[in-house]
Amino acid sequence: MHRMMTIAVAMMWLLAGPAFAGSPAGEHKYGGVKKCRSCHKKESIGNQYGSWEKTSHAKAFKTLSSDQAKEWADEAGVADPTTDEACVKCHVTAYGVPAERLGMKFKIENGVQCEACHGAGTDYRKKKIMIDRDVAVEKGLVLQSADVCTTCHNDESPAWDPEKYTLADGTKSGFDYDKAVTEIAHPVPEGYDPMAEDEAD
Ligand code: HEC
Ligand code: HEC
Ligand code: HEC
Ligand code: HEC
Repeated sequence: MHRMMTIAVAMMWLLAGPAFAGSPAGEHKYGGVKKCRSCHKKESIGNQYGSWEKTSHAKAFKTLSSDQAKEWADEAGVADPTTDEACVKCHVTAYGVPAERLGMKFKIENGVQCEACHGAGTDYRKKKIMIDRDVAVEKGLVLQSADVCTTCHNDESPAWDPEKYTLADGTKSGFDYDKAVTEIAHPVPEGYDPMAEDEAD
């Protein structure tokens, strides 16, 4: 009887766990890139999906199977870079988030997808929410800044080269936000009117 109680208490603690995790995305669920694609692959809105697909972010998980990855994993004493936290945490979306907060369409193979930067999307992906930034932010949309990028683009990465870029103020860094943002740009075209067409959802 006492043993059962202990297990029950332990389970309650486990269930309560994520509430204390304090992740920026709160309790929102990660739906997967497919949930963004339906609207954001349209040319009219700027085909952000197509732009993302061409970036190395889309291949970030596959990269962990490359020869370079194996070499760095060996150096770090990591047996399998495709499963070890030491590598996977920056090469996928939602690493460490409990399974119940990942939607059916969520795929680790999609690497660093929209929700890695914009936040867990199932609660803001409805059109009437998406078009109102304040409401979208309330529902989990994360506004962009260099801080979002440097959770991964930092000196914990074996690819980090502290001399790679010379910033505007003359200092050297392994990450140049202004330059990097232009390399992954996926703007909404000027004059786009979300009310002009009838999106699904
Ligand atoms: C039902 C269609 C639809 C879906 C699904 C959708 N979006 Fe959007 N999204 C829009 C529309 C419409 C806008 C407004 C574009 C504008 O007017 O500039 C928008 C705007 C945005 C913006 C800009 C917000 C701002 O105010 O800066 C981001 C970022 C974004 N979407 C990301 C996502 C992500 C990530 C997903 C998947 C989790 C997603 N969207 C799913 C339709 C959608
Ligand atoms: C702190 C986050 C982080 C961790 C941890 C991390 N990476 Fe990366 N990795 C990155 C980033 C960011 C890049 C992009 C390279 C850059 O800085 O321009 C990258 C790039 C790479 C590349 C591509 C390099 C190239 O030039 O083609 C490989 C391969 C790689 N990482 C393997 C690994 C392996 C193996 C591990 C674990 C031993 C690991 N990474 C751990 C963030 C990380
Ligand atoms: C979840 C971790 C993560 C976040 C957040 C992230 N990145 Fe990355 N980024 C990576 C990884 C991993 C790679 C390397 C992928 C590969 O080569 O397979 C990469 C590669 C890149 C590259 C290509 C660099 C190269 O030399 O190949 C650019 C540019 C870039 N990121 C810009 C950004 C910007 C700008 C932000 C923030 C708005 C950002 N990233 C946020 C993990 C991340
Ligand atoms: C590596 C981080 C990262 C990923 C991955 C990413 N975005 Fe973005 N996104 C950004 C940043 C940074 C900006 C803001 C750029 C700026 O303000 O110059 C942005 C802006 C946007 C905007 C607003 C553009 C505008 O002109 O107002 C939309 C819409 C958007 N992203 C949708 C998406 C969708 C959909 C995906 C996935 C298919 C995606 N993003 C993947 C970082 C990312």
